[in-house]
Amino acid sequence: MSNKDSVTLIDNSTGKEIELPILHPTEGPATIDVRTLYRQLGYFTYDPGFMSTASCRSAITYMDGEKGILRYRGYPIEELAENSTFLETCYLLLNGELPNRDEAEEFNNLITHHTMLHEAFKRFYSGFRRDAHPMAIMVGVVGALSAFFQDESDVHDKQSRRIAAHRLIAKMPTIAAWSYRYAHGLPFMYPQNHLDYPSNFLHMMFAVPTEEYKPDPIMVKALDLLLILHADHEQNASTSTVRLTGSSEANPFAAVAAGIASLWGPAHGGANEAVIRMLMEIIESGKGIQHFIDRAKDKNDRFRLMGFGHRVYKNYDPRAKIIRKVCHDLLENLGDDNPYKQLFDLSVQLEEIALKDEYFISRNLYPNVDFYSGIILLAMGIPLNMFTVIFALARTVGWITHWDEMMDDPESRIGRPRQLYSGKLERKYINIENR
Ligand code: CMC
Repeated sequence: MSNKDSVTLIDNSTGKEIELPILHPTEGPATIDVRTLYRQLGYFTYDPGFMSTASCRSAITYMDGEKGILRYRGYPIEELAENSTFLETCYLLLNGELPNRDEAEEFNNLITHHTMLHEAFKRFYSGFRRDAHPMAIMVGVVGALSAFFQDESDVHDKQSRRIAAHRLIAKMPTIAAWSYRYAHGLPFMYPQNHLDYPSNFLHMMFAVPTEEYKPDPIMVKALDLLLILHADHEQNASTSTVRLTGSSEANPFAAVAAGIASLWGPAHGGANEAVIRMLMEIIESGKGIQHFIDRAKDKNDRFRLMGFGHRVYKNYDPRAKIIRKVCHDLLENLGDDNPYKQLFDLSVQLEEIALKDEYFISRNLYPNVDFYSGIILLAMGIPLNMFTVIFALARTVGWITHWDEMMDDPESRIGRPRQLYSGKLERKYINIENR
């Protein structure tokens, strides 16, 4: 009799039958454990893009793409957005539980006191061209952190990993803001320990040494919310990149630099910048929304509706719902004649038209986190090419938490996918005169 907690696989070519165990998650689809498949039957599984493959066990974030659910450590994103702060969310992700008052204070202090960069870092920035994309600077500078903390990079030591996590979360706003300051020829502003995390970032972005700078509390709150919403998203491309990089026991700074590189692409974190460019193109072209919807549907055109669609969400992205409302409220506050209102109104129209269109309905394409976030960032005065940098700043906690979880997991091994080889069979070398 076959085991209820397994699937039976019959190889029709040999008649051989094997049982593969079913693993049960606390929530979500049950998972077939195929680890012994090659040993037992000599087959690999084929799944480009990981459409049906769980690459690891994880207890950090849960998503249900059909229902549009996102939870960090069991807490719904809507409740965290409403009640938490980014640093509290960082603590939750890293430690698995919300902090009590003492723990929260201690954590805030810890992060606040690790925000400075080694003075030699300034020379890294001056090595870049002024017009370098800040994400290019991020990849380089975050990777370079490994050169400064090599003495403490024991990836098998929990305490050492924790220190690396705190350093990364603390220093990322400084690294990010300085990439902007360098491009604009502005002096680097040092972090200020009396400021909270989002205020400190805005201060390093926008303050000048000659004047007092007071961040706008509405913008501080909106930024903190964006950071919460971007903090983690289970096994997305950049997080999987960090895991894969870290699986070779590479140091966390190098692994996170790899994650930043992966995030940069327009199919992933680069989409927030691409959305605004698309909205501006729609306005400037004067061709109307339908023209762009038609282009997005045309299989001969590479154009896609940016900020739409998601590998996991086949429903409205819960983060987009929250951001849309915050964006609306923020713009109301700025008054009717603010320049971002036109972009917001255009996005709302675009969303309405797309959601009534058979093409988008049949493929379950809804707005994702990037669709409205860019308008908020623009209203904060953040330039377009810094949008993905802010995503990276927020996602750092997710990356490092996944890396830490992987390093603790006795089942984790070096990531080494196999392939379906489609190249030439063995052939004899041909001397150049005979080719
Ligand atoms: N515009 C037009 N068609 C689309 C779009 C879009 N934005 N997204 C998906 N499709 C179509 C796609 O052409 C395909 O059609 P068909 O079945 O006829 O070939 C179908 O929908 C399924 O798309 P897919 O590319 O197979 O889906 P995927 O899961 O591999 O890709 C995605 C997901 C996010 C890369 C994709 O939806 C996309 O390129 N969206 C635009 C970029 C974007 O907004 N990215 C941000 C993602 S959320 C934040 C983050 O992860 O960083």
